[in-house]
Amino acid sequence: MRALRKADVVGLVLGKLSCMPQQAEGRAFAPSNIALCKYWGKRNEELNLPITSSLSVSLGHLGTTTLITMRSGGVADEILLNGAAVPTRQAFARGVTGFLNLFRPNPSMFYRVETVNTVPTAAGLASSASGFAALTLAVDQLCRWKLTSRQLSILARLGSGSAARSVYRGFVEWKAGANENGMDSFAVPVRGAWPELRLGLVKVSTAEKAISSREAMKRTRLTSAFYEAWPVKVAHDLLIIKEAIAMRDFKTLGQTTESNALAMHATGLAAWPPVLFWLPESVAVMHRIWALREAGLALFFTMDAGPNVKLLFLAADTPAVQQHFPGVEIVTPFAGK
Ligand code: PMV
Repeated sequence: MRALRKADVVGLVLGKLSCMPQQAEGRAFAPSNIALCKYWGKRNEELNLPITSSLSVSLGHLGTTTLITMRSGGVADEILLNGAAVPTRQAFARGVTGFLNLFRPNPSMFYRVETVNTVPTAAGLASSASGFAALTLAVDQLCRWKLTSRQLSILARLGSGSAARSVYRGFVEWKAGANENGMDSFAVPVRGAWPELRLGLVKVSTAEKAISSREAMKRTRLTSAFYEAWPVKVAHDLLIIKEAIAMRDFKTLGQTTESNALAMHATGLAAWPPVLFWLPESVAVMHRIWALREAGLALFFTMDAGPNVKLLFLAADTPAVQQHFPGVEIVTPFAGK
């Protein structure tokens, strides 16, 4: 049997729905998210189907707003990022156009896409999750499909795995699923708002990453002797994190989140060629966190496929965190709750 392509999944989701725009524009916002239990390794590279489930917290009002319209002429999609035109050759534009090709009514119709990131770019936060989720929601509006969140999550996943989680706010679990076609691999909201929860973004470097998360997780899955232990660790951590959210047990949440991130990074160390995202400054930040914790501060961290460190703490400790990490960008995931 022929391996399934993204377009096949789009066909399964949309059924008889047309990709012809039904209104002048589609506009949507999607929040960025940070995984507390990471997605690390795909069982299907084409469809971004994960080996394990994962769980994240969304970043409230920080994310991506996208406006999409049809162009009347032109020879390519017109793509603007934070107000500036992006050349079609650039990776960002190729990513957007490649994704939109899945929905293009015919090859001579082009879109105009205006994307604005409210994620502080200087904080080194990934915007692909919120970007593909916002684009999916905007196309859904443009074509007036009125898809369910589950369907939107499946489509956003085809852009980038972690985008599957950005169709919801708050705590979100992305169920790995087991089907070949991935129709059971989508995000679901996890009950529990936690207004006191804070994230702190400690910028270590904003330089382009040397290796993409796609390449890093593939290499790790294929060559690291430690990868075998990863799904076992995730199954355990997911249960503990969900329980900690339900019980508002911050210490358990923090410990499990930090340990999960360190385990993810450890699998990469045993890959060949090795995968190590940390810079000396990242390690220095970890040591500072551990020393502060030793001194009684309830402060934990997580890290993704880059050198920046994301702090986890409670509102009451904000002054202490600001004092020890000048310049830290503080995020309130449940603002307004
Ligand atoms: O969605 P991607 O392909 O950018 O992968 C994200 C991978 C991590 O950020 C490291 C983990 C996660 O669950 O977000």
